[in-house]
Amino acid sequence: MGNEEARIIAVANEKGGVGKTVTVVNLGAALCQERKSVLIVDMDPQFNATRGLGVELKGEMPTVYHLIKGDESIKAPDTIVKTKWHGLDLIPSHVDLAGAEVELVDEIGRENKLKDALDDINNAYDFILLDTPPSLSLLTVNVLAYATEVLVPCQTHPYAYAALEELFDTILTIKKNINPHLSVIGVLATLFDTRTRVSHSILEKLKNDDRYGPLLFETVIRVNTTIAESAGVGKPVIFYRQNSYGSMDYTDLAKELMSKHSA
Ligand SMILES: Nc1ncnc2c1ncn2[C@@H]1O[C@H](COP(=O)(O)OP(=O)(O)O)[C@@H](O)[C@H]1O
Ligand SMILES: [Mg+2]
Repeated sequence: MGNEEARIIAVANEKGGVGKTVTVVNLGAALCQERKSVLIVDMDPQFNATRGLGVELKGEMPTVYHLIKGDESIKAPDTIVKTKWHGLDLIPSHVDLAGAEVELVDEIGRENKLKDALDDINNAYDFILLDTPPSLSLLTVNVLAYATEVLVPCQTHPYAYAALEELFDTILTIKKNINPHLSVIGVLATLFDTRTRVSHSILEKLKNDDRYGPLLFETVIRVNTTIAESAGVGKPVIFYRQNSYGSMDYTDLAKELMSKHSA
């Protein structure tokens, strides 16, 4: 385990289906393979990251929901689950998390619940990766209030490209009003289909864009059916099929991220 403060990275995009969850699970596993200690926090009520790591939710298991609710009897370490892979831990999500928005509506400091709960464990990991739901809900605001870096997956598709502007404006608003330490560490081109013209044209647009171009990761995540397959069996692709494109791309991303620090 690391003894410096963790790099706390939110994987966020208000659009669904752009590869957020797949990136959290597989980047986490690739960093773990590079001998980094990693904690994944699943903040999406659909708990796909939890499932993707092969963790089954059981009845009264403490989850991130209890942390968000500020349940005094449950502390962050109580919610940490060890996955099958050494050095890769998880704070699972819970379906009830969807209701947290309403439950917290009158609470003071409700956007800092996650930060308050996790502040003590920051130095126990090298990386903390946070998965977010596909909306700018209070859950996402909690993640962005706690993180210091945002990684933005962008599907190489016209709609996803167009949606980036709103996301960047949201990040700026949060930086201004809630979390001055927040910055975008990079934009990640995902679901890149080498055979289609549209994938190539959106990647070109991203590269040449004044705002996103300088932030674009060199690593591009290609479409790879092994990724979807591995999620189905609750394993990161790197531990499922080491020599797949998915495994190679996320390993490249892990290495690039390790060499890249926010300005
Ligand atoms: N590189 C990829 N190759 C193939 N399928 C992918 C890839 N990335 C994501 N997927 C699939 O696309 C869908 C959306 O990805 P997901 O990570 O769940 O998006 P989000 O979390 O942004 O909603 C999922 O079914 C996932 O398995
Ligand atoms: Mg998701």
